[in-house]
Amino acid sequence: MFKGSTEELKIEINRLRTNKNAVVLAHNYQIPEIQDIADYVGDSLGLSRQAAKTDADIIVFCGVHFMAETASIISPEKKVLIPDLDAGCSLADSITGDQLKAWKAQYPEAVVVSYINTTAEVKAQSDYCCTSSNAVGIVNSIPEEKQILFLPDKFLGAYTEMVTGRELTIWQGACHVHEKIGELNLAEKQREYPDAEILIHPECGCSTSCMMKSAMYFDCKDAHVYSTSGMLERAQESDAGEFVVATEIGILHRMQKENPGKEFFAASEDSVCDYMKMITLENLRDALDYEQFEVKVPADLAEKALLPIERMLQIS
Ligand code: 13P
Ligand code: SF4
Repeated sequence: MFKGSTEELKIEINRLRTNKNAVVLAHNYQIPEIQDIADYVGDSLGLSRQAAKTDADIIVFCGVHFMAETASIISPEKKVLIPDLDAGCSLADSITGDQLKAWKAQYPEAVVVSYINTTAEVKAQSDYCCTSSNAVGIVNSIPEEKQILFLPDKFLGAYTEMVTGRELTIWQGACHVHEKIGELNLAEKQREYPDAEILIHPECGCSTSCMMKSAMYFDCKDAHVYSTSGMLERAQESDAGEFVVATEIGILHRMQKENPGKEFFAASEDSVCDYMKMITLENLRDALDYEQFEVKVPADLAEKALLPIERMLQIS
């Protein structure tokens, strides 16, 4: 591994990405140094769009494995790299291709809507993909008489059910970081910052009670549910000066940077996705230099997995 100061690492990364015509895409939860050096920082939908339109030869994905896999499905002619192959996702791991096959067999007429946080095997058996920013629009685009299997996140599923008014059959998966962000975290922060606006990611445990207006411990009146990039847009548009943010804490870096006059507080300081934090300047540099670790979805699987992603990109 290259050893050098942060400045030397940044110079190396810039040199390598220019020489190799590579683009660095980073998720909103990445460590600040990665967000600051990336060519594009965004949510899952924005990152998929970037992967589709880039003319770079190499995409280095600073995020988790399913995101790199999605980029490889969308742009099979590009070399897609992830700096650490162990950067996984507990939510994507909550349903396997075999489990989906068995679930579908119970509901042969149903339409399958899969969150983008899934493996290529799961996407390949799905009718539509969705992200946190377009789940409502995707479900609304499906004829009302159709039964929908929604997977794998139970909180995003419940949120989508409430906004669309549709009854969904929901897989009971969850993200280990977001499911722990509950009402009591918000209640505590609301006591501390009574004037703060509350921004909630739909994967959070607290999003359901908030949407049902049944929260017992905190007041939902100033709460809004958004994807990570939706939260960032809201932070800029809102007149509020303080925000309590219910999602992974990596997002606070960009929020603070884009809104220097406003203050942002994590609903829970423990909300850290260790998978997202596996990407560092060191392994990003090595990824560019040694062109490692390639994420390549086999062509037959990629072809099937592309259909639900393309449907999603057309609708949203
Ligand atoms: P976003 O698409 O809202 O960025 O969410 C991705 C994710 O993994 C949330 O945990
Ligand atoms: Fe997956 Fe949760 Fe990490 Fe998002 S925060 S990448 S859903 S484990």
